[in-house]
Amino acid sequence: MGDGGVLEFGAAALAPRSAPRHVALIMDGNGRWAAARGLPRFEGHRRGVEALRKTVRAAIELGVDYLTVYSFSVENWSRPPEEVQSLLALLHRFIRNDIGELRSNNVRVRVIGDRIDLSDDIAALLREAEETTAANTGLTLIVAFNYGARQEIAAAARALAEEVAAGRLRPGDIDADAISARLDTAGIPDPDLIIRTSGEQRLSNFMLWQAAYAELLFVPVHWPDFDRADFEAAIDDYAHRDRRFGGLAPVGRRAKTAS
Ligand code: IPE
Ligand code: IPE
Ligand code: MG
Repeated sequence: MGDGGVLEFGAAALAPRSAPRHVALIMDGNGRWAAARGLPRFEGHRRGVEALRKTVRAAIELGVDYLTVYSFSVENWSRPPEEVQSLLALLHRFIRNDIGELRSNNVRVRVIGDRIDLSDDIAALLREAEETTAANTGLTLIVAFNYGARQEIAAAARALAEEVAAGRLRPGDIDADAISARLDTAGIPDPDLIIRTSGEQRLSNFMLWQAAYAELLFVPVHWPDFDRADFEAAIDDYAHRDRRFGGLAPVGRRAKTAS
């Protein structure tokens, strides 16, 4: 990967390079990874957690500021109860086992999604992960758990309606920023790059509002096989895109520092 500090030829040398500030991952394909190996789906999820662990380390090293991981959707409750249980157990174990490393790596954890349907112990664990890392200033790891973008937008609309009804807000004050400020992601910049593994090309109710100008990348590997090389390739792909935000010239890109 060229870094601007070495001699490069061709169009790639002229293209401005940039690094995504916020990368969001739709970690898909665990079940198919397992099925292809004659293993139970659970084994795919277990290996998926290992891929997540490595990806968080890579994100820190690559200088990503925000990493969002879609780990359980509101629609995933429709899976068989044993699978749902195993996914909840894996989340539990990931937070329990990894919180120490996250904390010492200066990672700040934030959780988005609805906590109402979660058991008390999972809700307490998520709260603890957020509270014990709240002062950290490195990578922000955003865990989307029991998350659904439509539900998130509906909740923001409800909050706005309540403020209007209480006389604290006028309907005319409701603009895009007012909605953004009431989403679970309030204060977090929109994702620059959304990567979905497994080859599926859809968002599956993920960050529908925040994805307005995200660059989308669909990669054919199943999530348990996603590694640092795939992550670096995705970031390199992003660096060559022209983001125009409706204008004519590429804008809004963070220049990559030459080494
Ligand atoms: C992603 O893998 C994990 C979750 C959705 C929780 P899947 O379990 O969706 O795997 P596939 O898509 O069936 O292969
Ligand atoms: C999206 O994957 C949700 C997560 C990765 C957590 P799904 O496997 O649930 O999505 P669909 O059902 O294929 O759209
Ligand atoms: Mg899937």
